[in-house]
Amino acid sequence: MKAYRTNLRTRDEIRSAVKELVGKMTLEEKAGQLYQSVGADITAIGSTGVKVDVETLIREGRIGSMIQVDEPSVLESKIRRLQKIAVEESRLGIPILMCQDVIHGYETVFPIPLAWSCSFDPALIRKCVAAAAAEAGTAGIDLAFSPMVDIVRDPRWGRVCESAGEDPYLGALIARAQVEGFRDGGVLSCLKHFLGYGAAEAGRDYNTVELSTTTMYNTYLKPFAAGIDAGADSVMTAFNVMDGIPMVANRRIVGGLLRKGLGFDGIVISDYGAFMELMNHGVAANGKEAAQRAFSATTDIEMTTNYYLSYIPDMVRSGEISEAELDASVERILTKKYEVGLMDDPYIHCRPEKQSQVIFSREHLALAEKMAEESAVLLENDGVLPLSKDARIALVGPYATEHDHAGAWSFTHRREESVNIYDGLVAEGFKNIATEPATGIFDENEGGIANAVRIAKDSDVVILAVGESSVISGEACSRQDITIPGRQKDLVEAILALGKPTVMVLVTGRPLLLESYQGRLSGLLLAWDLGSMAGHAIAKILSGTVNPSGHLSMSFPRNLGQIPLYYNALNTGRPHIPGSTEHFESKYLDGPNDPLYRFGYGLSYTKFGLSGVEIPSRLDRTKGLCVKADVTNEGSVAGTALCQLYVRDKVARIARPIKELKGFCRVQLQAGETKRISIDVPFKEFGFLDSDFVFHVEPGEFDIFVGFDSGDAGMVTGTTVLED
Ligand code: NOJ
Repeated sequence: MKAYRTNLRTRDEIRSAVKELVGKMTLEEKAGQLYQSVGADITAIGSTGVKVDVETLIREGRIGSMIQVDEPSVLESKIRRLQKIAVEESRLGIPILMCQDVIHGYETVFPIPLAWSCSFDPALIRKCVAAAAAEAGTAGIDLAFSPMVDIVRDPRWGRVCESAGEDPYLGALIARAQVEGFRDGGVLSCLKHFLGYGAAEAGRDYNTVELSTTTMYNTYLKPFAAGIDAGADSVMTAFNVMDGIPMVANRRIVGGLLRKGLGFDGIVISDYGAFMELMNHGVAANGKEAAQRAFSATTDIEMTTNYYLSYIPDMVRSGEISEAELDASVERILTKKYEVGLMDDPYIHCRPEKQSQVIFSREHLALAEKMAEESAVLLENDGVLPLSKDARIALVGPYATEHDHAGAWSFTHRREESVNIYDGLVAEGFKNIATEPATGIFDENEGGIANAVRIAKDSDVVILAVGESSVISGEACSRQDITIPGRQKDLVEAILALGKPTVMVLVTGRPLLLESYQGRLSGLLLAWDLGSMAGHAIAKILSGTVNPSGHLSMSFPRNLGQIPLYYNALNTGRPHIPGSTEHFESKYLDGPNDPLYRFGYGLSYTKFGLSGVEIPSRLDRTKGLCVKADVTNEGSVAGTALCQLYVRDKVARIARPIKELKGFCRVQLQAGETKRISIDVPFKEFGFLDSDFVFHVEPGEFDIFVGFDSGDAGMVTGTTVLED
């Protein structure tokens, strides 16, 4: 594992420097390291409403870290000023750890994480994260609250946009890539939200979670385990309960599973105001009890509330908590301050002189464009795409000219500089474009739909640029109705009634319900929120300059009643056989089980074929499984295939999913070209954790499926056996 500042101090040197420093600290200063204050001025602390004088607390050495110091435009100077007080005016001069959400870019905005996960390209994601970290790391930020590695199965939950989707294997690879990206960019990382936050009941944010132990271990835990293995610096606890105990105070899951089970020795941070919420949950009567419960769960840093700060010194004096445990917490925090270089240079991330080279740089914008090109997913195409640049195009819908493709978790100042679809089409060389936004996200602009219909009548092809705005995706943005919002639906219907070739470009932070458009659209490009370079990437895909290669990382349901819906489900005792008339099967009376667009699905402008698939009949305990195949580009344009490998453990002590992604290979092919590829599946990928956290790879048969999405059609299947 690469260290942040290898040249400065070794691990042993850091260990002894930390011990020495802790030895000099008062109880008040120790408690201060555990306090994460919000804001820069005399301000309300988070949601407690208690006013504190931040600068005085800093002078007293009682603020260890800060969040949301200010707007990005003035962030660096504010941070520098506060850091100076900490370093020059507090007794021990310990710098403050400055923290911020840097989720999918800083000023340069990359596609939302749900989008970039559709690239199945962790190496490129790593570069984007490193670029974001490099930008944030000039503006004063030492630690990013990222990556979010929650598994998601419910598109009603607004936070699916921050995730890598429904698959733990892909999620684990992307978690690792992001942790490595932050380290490449020199900023500390934070895996969140530990654990099960993506399983909020009914997709309602912050809601209760009911999760079986084996699903928790084998599905929700896996990306965290990978991130920790890659060297994640911190972990943020989730807002939800598990077994009735909110995660911030969950001693069994945080103190046990995370610390002992996964061996995590970095910082555990609460989520925003989560200490105070222990009282709403009804598991603490007051702030002191909240502090006690969170401390016993080994939560190190309290985000925005100040119960640790208020109660810990006296609790140590009275013997209610042990000073050795407090020291351990403080040591974890100080260790990270040393590792990231803050103790040797408190202004290491205050680099205004570097900003003009790094922030919104050409290189970062090029990276954002490449990532956007790989993230979009072509869902439908009857041959209308790619479009001729001479076509008379009617570009209608709110995203025709809208610049905001930044997504929900972005604090960029360059939102208005994101390339919109119209500008992207013009830059790509389309000559004949008439535009009419027609509606906002919800309401119609006066006469807008009639005008859109008028220009559509005069066109060869209509592009419907519609979707969900970033304001209704993200945190606290759960929706009961996940169709295209408001009057946009009427716009779509009015255009489809014309019978013209119509391509929908869907901008969204979550899967939406699209079944009513099936068979009525000539083309459907899922653009998600693609970031700063959205318009260029979309235009290049529409023109065919870029051949789409994205594949869904989250299923698109047909119907709200199917949710939660995910491909890697258990079989049930009465699985439904499509076409069967048997009544007592696991099915619906009024609709199919399968999604509209399944995990792994995505079209290209060419067609790929699979042949010569070699699946070894024996599974090797040391080498795992190596599957080989010939992938051929059978069409007339170059393209990138995504060959996917799924496994099913046929008989085990616990029921295993009907299919689990265990490997994939992106392969670029010229027209007519064939390449022999190999996909290696490590032996441990054939195993699972039982409810006692014991890992097993059990002898017996494993079905292997190789294909271009998670569906059965076109899959090449075989069986491999692990002998006793
Ligand atoms: C609450 C969110 O749940 C978390 O993801 C975020 O990092 C914090 N707020 C800080 O902004």
